Amino acid sequence: MLKVTDLSVSYGAIKALNSVSLEVQKGEIVTMIGANGAGKSTTIRTISGLVKPQSGTIELDGKPIHTLPPHQIVHLGISQSPEGRRVFSTMTVHENLQLGAYTRRGSRSSVLEDMDRVFSLFPRLKERERQVAGTLSGGEQQMLAMGRALMARPTLLMLDEPSLGLAPFLVQTIFKIIQEINEQGTTVLLVEQNAHQALRVAHRGYVLETGQVTMSDNAANLMTDDGVRRAYLGE
Ligand SMILES: Nc1ncnc2c1ncn2[C@@H]1O[C@H](COP(=O)(O)OP(=O)(O)O)[C@@H](O)[C@H]1O
Ligand SMILES: [Mg+2]
Repeated sequence: MLKVTDLSVSYGAIKALNSVSLEVQKGEIVTMIGANGAGKSTTIRTISGLVKPQSGTIELDGKPIHTLPPHQIVHLGISQSPEGRRVFSTMTVHENLQLGAYTRRGSRSSVLEDMDRVFSLFPRLKERERQVAGTLSGGEQQMLAMGRALMARPTLLMLDEPSLGLAPFLVQTIFKIIQEINEQGTTVLLVEQNAHQALRVAHRGYVLETGQVTMSDNAANLMTDDGVRRAYLGE
């Protein structure tokens, strides 16, 4: 479905990604784990079209997308929940979700239908539909950012550190919902520093170190790998 080949990205003199290749097949949860600064967000932002690669290709179902602007990439079925949530803080939950459907140009009723689906995944958002997003708790803002990304009806949902800064019980909830979203038919690319949880829900994973993929395997193998255990699982 998604095929990234030899992707290199620089910010001025800083080389953030160095020939990164990865693939996501339809129906999978694929995780990319790595330390702070490894290039995880850059990978997601480049796939979204927000950052332009220096070299390499990104293909969706065999068609190159790395030359397209972000809104067209969303339109083709890739949406993301950015790191740090970035909800529109002065707008209500309802308005934030509506904006997520913007690129889709769907009918009013289909937008409301999708909003109902988001509310069934995140009942806490339903209770807070008319609340201004800036007054939501961190966990609720994370739910809203994910819900907003789902409103674009993505075939590939990219999540950038959805568990960052959340209380442990909420972390569990968020990962359970990620699995639910996947079971309902959405493919997921999950970027996480919380390798433990990410590898528990993912089918396959990639390890990113200073801009390079150093390992890729199914999640069970990565979880039992000595190097991964020492570096990312604190064991
Ligand atoms: N907008 C930017 N301008 C300059 N350097 C950046 C920018 N964004 C990220 N970087 C650098 O690129 C590298 C990768 O960052 P990032 O993709 O955010 O890593 P991660 O998400 O894995 O923590 C880091 O060295 C970071 O400092
Ligand atoms: Mg990041």
